[in-house]
Amino acid sequence: MRLLILGGTTEASALARHIAGRRDLDPVLSFAGRTRNPVPPPIPFRIGGFGGIAGLKAYLAEQRVDATIDATHPFAAQMSRHAAIACRDLGIPLAAFTRPPWHRQDGDLWTSAGNIAAAVQALGATPRTVFLTTGALGLAAFAAAPWHRYIVRTIDPPDAIGALPRHRPILARGPFSVESEIALMREEQVEVLVTKNSGGSATGAKLTAARILGIRVVIVERPEPEAVPMFETVADTEAWIDAHWPPP
Ligand SMILES: NC(=O)c1ccc[n+]([C@@H]2O[C@H](COP(=O)([O-])OP(=O)(O)OC[C@H]3O[C@@H](n4cnc5c(N)ncnc54)[C@H](OP(=O)(O)O)[C@@H]3O)[C@@H](O)[C@H]2O)c1
Repeated sequence: MRLLILGGTTEASALARHIAGRRDLDPVLSFAGRTRNPVPPPIPFRIGGFGGIAGLKAYLAEQRVDATIDATHPFAAQMSRHAAIACRDLGIPLAAFTRPPWHRQDGDLWTSAGNIAAAVQALGATPRTVFLTTGALGLAAFAAAPWHRYIVRTIDPPDAIGALPRHRPILARGPFSVESEIALMREEQVEVLVTKNSGGSATGAKLTAARILGIRVVIVERPEPEAVPMFETVADTEAWIDAHWPPP
Protein backbone atom coordinates (compact mmCIF):
# COMPACT_ATOMS: atom_id res chain seq x y z
CA MET A 1 0.00 0.00 0.00
CA ARG A 2 1.44 3.33 -1.07
CA LEU A 3 0.72 5.58 1.90
CA LEU A 4 1.25 9.35 1.94
CA ILE A 5 1.64 10.87 5.41
CA LEU A 6 1.39 14.66 5.55
CA GLY A 7 3.61 15.60 8.44
CA GLY A 8 5.61 18.22 10.23
CA THR A 9 4.31 17.11 13.63
CA THR A 10 5.13 14.75 16.50
CA GLU A 11 2.07 12.70 15.47
CA ALA A 12 3.42 12.14 11.95
CA SER A 13 6.86 11.21 13.33
CA ALA A 14 5.30 8.77 15.82
CA LEU A 15 3.25 7.12 13.06
CA ALA A 16 6.35 6.91 10.84
CA ARG A 17 8.33 5.21 13.62
CA HIS A 18 5.47 2.82 14.30
CA ILE A 19 4.98 1.62 10.72
CA ALA A 20 8.67 1.72 9.71
CA GLY A 21 9.01 -2.05 10.10
CA ARG A 22 5.89 -2.99 8.13
CA ARG A 23 6.80 -4.55 4.80
CA ASP A 24 3.26 -4.44 3.46
CA LEU A 25 3.29 -0.63 3.52
CA ASP A 26 5.20 1.66 1.17
CA PRO A 27 5.01 4.96 3.03
CA VAL A 28 6.32 8.44 2.26
CA LEU A 29 6.33 11.24 4.82
CA SER A 30 5.89 14.75 3.47
CA PHE A 31 7.33 17.88 5.13
CA ALA A 32 6.47 21.43 4.09
CA GLY A 33 10.10 22.43 4.63
CA ARG A 34 9.50 25.12 7.27
CA THR A 35 11.93 23.71 9.84
CA ARG A 36 15.53 24.11 8.71
CA ASN A 37 16.82 20.87 10.24
CA PRO A 38 13.96 18.38 10.49
CA VAL A 39 14.77 15.19 12.37
CA PRO A 40 15.13 12.57 9.56
CA PRO A 41 12.33 9.98 9.86
CA PRO A 42 12.90 6.20 9.64
CA ILE A 43 10.80 5.99 6.43
CA PRO A 44 11.27 7.62 2.99
CA PHE A 45 10.42 11.34 2.98
CA ARG A 46 10.04 14.30 0.68
CA ILE A 47 10.30 18.04 1.43
CA GLY A 48 8.41 21.00 -0.04
CA GLY A 49 4.93 22.10 -1.13
CA PHE A 50 3.09 20.20 -3.86
CA GLY A 51 1.98 23.30 -5.75
CA GLY A 52 -1.60 23.74 -4.58
CA ILE A 53 -4.49 21.36 -5.13
CA ALA A 54 -3.53 20.68 -8.76
CA GLY A 55 0.06 19.86 -7.78
CA LEU A 56 -1.09 17.56 -5.00
CA LYS A 57 -3.46 15.74 -7.35
CA ALA A 58 -0.65 15.26 -9.86
CA TYR A 59 1.62 13.92 -7.08
CA LEU A 60 -1.04 11.51 -5.78
CA ALA A 61 -1.65 10.17 -9.29
CA GLU A 62 2.04 9.90 -10.28
CA GLN A 63 2.98 8.19 -7.04
CA ARG A 64 -0.10 5.93 -7.20
CA VAL A 65 -0.99 6.78 -3.63
CA ASP A 66 -3.55 4.35 -2.19
CA ALA A 67 -4.38 6.23 1.01
CA THR A 68 -3.41 9.47 2.76
CA ILE A 69 -3.03 10.33 6.43
CA ASP A 70 -3.24 14.03 7.20
CA ALA A 71 -1.04 14.29 10.29
CA THR A 72 -0.36 18.00 9.84
CA HIS A 73 -0.62 20.47 12.68
CA PRO A 74 -4.20 21.42 13.67
CA PHE A 75 -3.44 24.98 12.43
CA ALA A 76 -2.16 23.86 9.02
CA ALA A 77 -5.67 24.39 7.61
CA GLN A 78 -4.69 25.04 4.00
CA MET A 79 -2.79 21.77 3.62
CA SER A 80 -5.69 19.87 5.21
CA ARG A 81 -8.19 21.52 2.88
CA HIS A 82 -6.06 20.76 -0.18
CA ALA A 83 -5.74 17.12 0.92
CA ALA A 84 -9.50 16.81 1.47
CA ILE A 85 -10.31 18.20 -1.99
CA ALA A 86 -7.60 16.30 -3.88
CA CYS A 87 -8.35 12.95 -2.20
CA ARG A 88 -12.09 13.40 -2.66
CA ASP A 89 -11.66 14.18 -6.37
CA LEU A 90 -9.38 11.19 -6.93
CA GLY A 91 -11.34 8.80 -4.69
CA ILE A 92 -8.36 8.23 -2.38
CA PRO A 93 -9.20 7.37 1.25
CA LEU A 94 -8.10 10.11 3.65
CA ALA A 95 -8.04 10.23 7.45
CA ALA A 96 -6.63 12.76 9.91
CA PHE A 97 -4.34 11.95 12.83
CA THR A 98 -4.24 14.85 15.24
CA ARG A 99 -3.73 15.57 18.90
CA PRO A 100 -6.65 16.54 21.14
CA PRO A 101 -6.88 20.24 22.02
CA TRP A 102 -6.04 21.57 25.48
CA HIS A 103 -9.01 22.19 27.75
CA ARG A 104 -9.38 24.90 30.34
CA GLN A 105 -8.78 23.70 33.89
CA ASP A 106 -9.59 25.17 37.33
CA GLY A 107 -7.28 28.10 37.98
CA ASP A 108 -6.64 28.87 34.31
CA LEU A 109 -6.97 32.54 33.32
CA TRP A 110 -7.73 31.99 29.63
CA THR A 111 -9.04 34.43 27.04
CA SER A 112 -10.15 32.75 23.81
CA ALA A 113 -9.24 34.33 20.46
CA GLY A 114 -10.66 33.24 17.09
CA ASN A 115 -7.41 34.00 15.23
CA ILE A 116 -4.03 35.72 15.64
CA ALA A 117 -5.43 39.20 14.92
CA ALA A 118 -7.98 38.73 17.73
CA ALA A 119 -5.16 37.57 20.03
CA VAL A 120 -3.28 40.83 19.35
CA GLN A 121 -6.44 42.79 20.24
CA ALA A 122 -6.93 40.76 23.42
CA LEU A 123 -3.55 41.96 24.75
CA GLY A 124 -5.09 45.39 25.34
CA ALA A 125 -3.73 48.93 25.48
CA THR A 126 -1.61 48.64 28.65
CA PRO A 127 2.03 47.70 27.92
CA ARG A 128 2.74 44.14 29.08
CA THR A 129 5.52 41.59 28.88
CA VAL A 130 4.10 39.01 26.50
CA PHE A 131 5.43 35.49 25.95
CA LEU A 132 4.70 34.60 22.30
CA THR A 133 4.72 30.91 21.41
CA THR A 134 2.52 31.14 18.32
CA GLY A 135 5.29 30.30 15.84
CA ALA A 136 7.21 32.32 13.30
CA LEU A 137 4.40 32.70 10.77
CA GLY A 138 1.96 34.80 12.85
CA LEU A 139 4.61 37.11 14.34
CA ALA A 140 4.11 40.08 12.01
CA ALA A 141 0.54 40.54 13.33
CA PHE A 142 1.92 41.62 16.72
CA ALA A 143 3.56 44.66 15.13
CA ALA A 144 0.04 46.19 15.44
CA ALA A 145 0.65 46.37 19.23
CA PRO A 146 4.24 47.65 19.45
CA TRP A 147 3.86 48.94 23.05
CA HIS A 148 4.28 45.44 24.51
CA ARG A 149 7.59 43.73 25.20
CA TYR A 150 7.64 40.36 23.45
CA ILE A 151 9.53 37.26 24.51
CA VAL A 152 9.43 35.28 21.25
CA ARG A 153 10.12 31.55 21.34
CA THR A 154 10.56 29.77 18.00
CA ILE A 155 12.47 26.75 16.65
CA ASP A 156 14.34 28.71 13.94
CA PRO A 157 15.21 32.44 13.88
CA PRO A 158 12.00 34.10 12.59
CA ASP A 159 12.15 36.52 9.65
CA ALA A 160 9.41 38.83 10.93
CA ILE A 161 10.89 39.49 14.38
CA GLY A 162 12.28 42.88 13.31
CA ALA A 163 8.68 44.12 13.08
CA LEU A 164 8.47 44.01 16.90
CA PRO A 165 10.32 47.00 18.35
CA ARG A 166 10.79 45.50 21.84
CA HIS A 167 11.52 41.82 21.73
CA ARG A 168 13.78 39.09 23.06
CA PRO A 169 14.15 36.00 20.86
CA ILE A 170 14.50 32.55 22.37
CA LEU A 171 15.37 29.66 20.04
CA ALA A 172 14.24 26.33 21.46
CA ARG A 173 12.46 23.15 20.43
CA GLY A 174 10.18 21.30 22.89
CA PRO A 175 9.48 19.28 24.88
CA PHE A 176 9.65 21.73 27.78
CA SER A 177 9.17 20.92 31.48
CA VAL A 178 6.88 22.77 33.89
CA GLU A 179 9.92 23.67 36.00
CA SER A 180 11.82 25.22 33.09
CA GLU A 181 8.70 27.09 31.91
CA ILE A 182 8.15 28.52 35.42
CA ALA A 183 11.81 29.56 35.61
CA LEU A 184 11.63 31.27 32.21
CA MET A 185 8.36 33.09 32.94
CA ARG A 186 9.70 34.30 36.32
CA GLU A 187 13.04 35.39 34.88
CA GLU A 188 11.43 37.32 32.02
CA GLN A 189 8.61 38.65 34.27
CA VAL A 190 6.01 37.40 31.81
CA GLU A 191 2.54 38.90 32.33
CA VAL A 192 0.64 37.28 29.42
CA LEU A 193 1.23 34.08 27.46
CA VAL A 194 -0.05 33.82 23.88
CA THR A 195 -0.40 30.35 22.38
CA LYS A 196 -2.36 28.49 19.75
CA ASN A 197 -4.54 25.68 21.08
CA SER A 198 -2.18 23.16 19.52
CA GLY A 199 -2.70 20.47 22.16
CA GLY A 200 -0.20 17.75 22.96
CA SER A 201 2.21 17.16 25.81
CA ALA A 202 5.45 18.47 24.26
CA THR A 203 4.46 22.11 24.65
CA GLY A 204 1.63 21.86 27.23
CA ALA A 205 3.87 22.62 30.23
CA LYS A 206 3.66 26.38 29.61
CA LEU A 207 -0.07 26.25 30.42
CA THR A 208 0.56 24.47 33.71
CA ALA A 209 3.28 27.00 34.50
CA ALA A 210 0.94 29.91 33.70
CA ARG A 211 -1.77 28.39 35.95
CA ILE A 212 0.70 27.98 38.84
CA LEU A 213 2.01 31.54 38.45
CA GLY A 214 -1.45 33.11 37.86
CA ILE A 215 -0.41 34.38 34.42
CA ARG A 216 -3.11 35.29 31.88
CA VAL A 217 -3.21 33.19 28.69
CA VAL A 218 -4.56 34.35 25.34
CA ILE A 219 -5.34 31.14 23.49
CA VAL A 220 -5.98 31.06 19.74
CA GLU A 221 -8.66 28.46 18.98
CA ARG A 222 -8.27 25.91 16.17
CA PRO A 223 -9.72 26.34 12.71
CA GLU A 224 -12.62 24.01 11.80
CA PRO A 225 -11.24 20.59 10.86
CA GLU A 226 -12.08 18.93 7.53
CA ALA A 227 -14.95 16.42 7.53
CA VAL A 228 -12.79 13.28 7.36
CA PRO A 229 -12.34 10.39 9.83
CA MET A 230 -10.19 11.76 12.66
CA PHE A 231 -8.01 9.79 15.08
CA GLU A 232 -5.99 10.79 18.11
CA THR A 233 -3.74 7.75 18.56
CA VAL A 234 -1.25 5.81 16.42
CA ALA A 235 -3.19 2.60 17.13
CA ASP A 236 -6.50 4.00 15.86
CA THR A 237 -4.83 5.47 12.78
CA GLU A 238 -3.14 2.15 12.02
CA ALA A 239 -6.48 0.34 12.45
CA TRP A 240 -7.95 2.66 9.81
CA ILE A 241 -5.03 1.91 7.48
CA ASP A 242 -5.52 -1.83 7.98
CA ALA A 243 -9.25 -1.53 7.33
CA HIS A 244 -8.40 -0.14 3.89
CA TRP A 245 -5.51 -2.50 3.23
CA PRO A 246 -5.60 -5.55 5.50
CA PRO A 247 -2.07 -6.80 6.35
CA PRO A 248 -1.23 -10.15 4.64
N1 LIG B 1 0.70 26.11 11.62
C1 LIG B 1 1.33 25.74 12.70
O1 LIG B 1 1.12 26.30 13.80
C2 LIG B 1 2.31 24.59 12.67
C3 LIG B 1 2.94 24.20 13.88
C4 LIG B 1 3.83 23.11 13.84
C5 LIG B 1 4.07 22.44 12.67
N2 LIG B 1 3.42 22.85 11.53
C6 LIG B 1 3.70 22.10 10.30
O2 LIG B 1 4.34 23.01 9.40
C7 LIG B 1 3.86 22.81 8.09
C8 LIG B 1 3.39 24.13 7.50
O3 LIG B 1 2.34 24.64 8.29
P1 LIG B 1 1.44 25.82 7.72
O4 LIG B 1 0.58 26.28 8.85
O5 LIG B 1 2.26 26.77 6.92
O6 LIG B 1 0.53 24.98 6.70
P2 LIG B 1 -0.61 25.48 5.70
O7 LIG B 1 -0.82 26.94 5.84
O8 LIG B 1 -1.78 24.58 5.89
O9 LIG B 1 0.04 25.12 4.29
C9 LIG B 1 0.62 26.07 3.43
C10 LIG B 1 1.28 25.34 2.30
O10 LIG B 1 2.45 24.67 2.73
C11 LIG B 1 2.59 23.43 2.05
N3 LIG B 1 2.51 22.35 3.04
C12 LIG B 1 1.98 22.37 4.28
N4 LIG B 1 2.16 21.20 4.90
C13 LIG B 1 2.82 20.41 4.01
C14 LIG B 1 3.31 19.08 4.07
N5 LIG B 1 3.18 18.33 5.19
N6 LIG B 1 3.93 18.58 2.98
C15 LIG B 1 4.10 19.33 1.86
N7 LIG B 1 3.66 20.61 1.75
C16 LIG B 1 3.04 21.14 2.82
C17 LIG B 1 1.48 23.37 1.05
O11 LIG B 1 1.99 24.00 -0.12
P3 LIG B 1 1.44 23.68 -1.58
O12 LIG B 1 0.14 24.40 -1.69
O13 LIG B 1 2.51 24.17 -2.49
O14 LIG B 1 1.24 22.18 -1.67
C18 LIG B 1 0.42 24.23 1.70
O15 LIG B 1 -0.53 24.74 0.78
C19 LIG B 1 2.79 21.74 8.14
O16 LIG B 1 3.34 20.56 7.64
C20 LIG B 1 2.44 21.61 9.59
O17 LIG B 1 2.12 20.28 9.95
C21 LIG B 1 2.57 23.91 11.50
